Amino acid sequence: MAYTIAVAGKGGTGKTTISGLIVDYLSKLGKGPVLAVDADANSNLNEVLGVEVEATLGELREEIAKGQEDIPAGMAKQEYAEFKFSEALAEMDGYDLLVMGRDQGQGCYCFVNGLLQTQIMKYAGRYAYMVVDNEAGMEHISRGILPQVDVILLVSDCSTRGIQAVGRIKELIGSLGLKYKKLGLVVNLAPSGELAEGIKAEIKKHGLELIAVIPRDEAVYSYDSAGRPLVQLPQDSAVKKAVAGLMKYILD
Ligand SMILES: Nc1ncnc2c1ncn2[C@@H]1O[C@H](COP(=O)(O)OP(=O)(O)OP(=O)(O)O)[C@@H](O)[C@H]1O
Ligand SMILES: [Mg+2]
Repeated sequence: MAYTIAVAGKGGTGKTTISGLIVDYLSKLGKGPVLAVDADANSNLNEVLGVEVEATLGELREEIAKGQEDIPAGMAKQEYAEFKFSEALAEMDGYDLLVMGRDQGQGCYCFVNGLLQTQIMKYAGRYAYMVVDNEAGMEHISRGILPQVDVILLVSDCSTRGIQAVGRIKELIGSLGLKYKKLGLVVNLAPSGELAEGIKAEIKKHGLELIAVIPRDEAVYSYDSAGRPLVQLPQDSAVKKAVAGLMKYILD
């Protein structure tokens, strides 16, 4: 089973950015293949990685359900569906990307969630690492898409409310009994990479273990606004250096 790192937290705090930079870090480490999972219905991990997504699980499911595809003679429907779903895996250099996406036809996307879970179970054994970028809040965690996790990274911005939100996610994880080996807080978007005393106190109050502080980096903004994938940032950029430090801690 792949060593699994799940990234969760409040909206807009940098979960996808951090997930993408972790995938980049691990795939360059050369320690075996990495599976990057975009488990946000509004998928955009591919943009951080600079990958063109051909098909998401949600879209493929919809195509199959509508019967738009002609099933080749001699192939069972189930077999065909599995063959189709394998198209949602984009094979890149050093990692593969699996995108959940959404199913427009379904009012609820629990179905696509279940599908993602099935695919993850099928693939997990083939990879050394799996990095899962989750949507904001607690939806995925409460639906338990992951059977087991090695590391949970809770991402917050540098605000009291961000830390409180992450504190609630930690409580929820505890009450659901989700198993993990390490759970750590990553504070992102810190002005000049420093935390104010009030934020440090809030972190302590929630019993969170702070494992990394990632500074607000102007280079992220300039790459993002120019439509350049963030993985192309120089190795010595502030965010990449902070993510490398975080990964050394995690893999130690
Ligand atoms: N350290 C940083 N310095 C500067 N900008 C950053 C940094 N981290 C993230 N950003 C920017 O903040 C915005 C939100 O980041 P991102 O999409 O990674 O957050 P998210 O938590 O995945 O959001 P969502 O909840 O919508 O999925 C993006 O525009 C991203 O480029
Ligand atoms: Mg995101």
